[in-house]
Amino acid sequence: GRVNIIGEHTDYSYGYVMPIAINLYTIIDYEKSDKLVLYSEAYNETKEFDLANIKSKTNSWLDYIIGVYKVMHDMGLNPGPINGKISGNLPIGSGLSSSASLELAIAAALNHTYELKLDRLQMALIGKKAENEFVGVPSGILDQFAVSFGKKGYAIFLDTQTLKYQYIPFPDILQIIVFNTGIKRELANSEYANRKKIVEESLGILKKNSSKEINEKDLDKLPLLHKKRMGYIIRENQRVLMAMDCLKNHDYVSLGKILVEAHRDIATNYEVSSPELDFVVNEALKYGAYGARLTGAGFGGSAIILSGKENSEKIAKKVYQSYTKEFKYKASYTLVEASEGTYVL
Ligand code: GLA
Repeated sequence: GRVNIIGEHTDYSYGYVMPIAINLYTIIDYEKSDKLVLYSEAYNETKEFDLANIKSKTNSWLDYIIGVYKVMHDMGLNPGPINGKISGNLPIGSGLSSSASLELAIAAALNHTYELKLDRLQMALIGKKAENEFVGVPSGILDQFAVSFGKKGYAIFLDTQTLKYQYIPFPDILQIIVFNTGIKRELANSEYANRKKIVEESLGILKKNSSKEINEKDLDKLPLLHKKRMGYIIRENQRVLMAMDCLKNHDYVSLGKILVEAHRDIATNYEVSSPELDFVVNEALKYGAYGARLTGAGFGGSAIILSGKENSEKIAKKVYQSYTKEFKYKASYTLVEASEGTYVL
């Protein structure tokens, strides 16, 4: 899976993002076979599928898999079936990219077993296309790129327009705590599409290809709501650059402040936060975190808390205690590491 350190809702206007892959995984244990048969541990069910027949969706978890097959077929690749089991410790629907994780796991498995000779970028793009065109979620490249390119001990700074990236050392003395609010975020898909529509209209009005090309002054040419949303995005792009500098200069206090500023801005001007996410951010700061913010699409899902390694467990416990006192959702937290992306064992 992944968490995005900063650069939220910037990828579908081709701005900057800075995620890490995390050590919560989807695992596919498989062998070559003459039929596609997969068991999902999370859903406790086995599904079979006839690959000669990929037309419509099944409206189940299988769509992420046959979506990847479909995109590969459309590219003229012809991976055969596998028989296997899907398991892992990455929670589904918690804003940690369980869908990109499944897409990339299957892409890597097929790439390896059927010798497709795809590189990491091609696999990330295949995953995105499966998600956009087959599953029908209009997401950007953030999730698939992070899951595909993750590197142990590094954050990834990515320009989502050029797809040029840099690995930025993520130091051992820092800890990222993922705080899962317990609120599933699938329901938010229509809100996500609404945000994306406003952004696309804004790029159209301003005749720009990327939010990176928009400045404060341009915003005056936009209708009020568009101005509010795009104002957030152009400030967020700047914050990604500043956050990268903070990491390079080992300035974690400033990095934390930037994360909090990003959270306040996305809550006020992009309106994808929730009372629960705001609560987590405020509590984390009370107990001595450097910073915290929602991660991923928002509307529930997870927040990240950035702290020093030495007091991370204490902060996580305190936030958990006050959160579960305040809200009834089944929350959880995990201390995660910047980890390797997709690989074949
Ligand atoms: C979801 C999408 C990503 C990105 C984030 C918000 O995770 O899949 O493409 O837009 O939301 O930053």
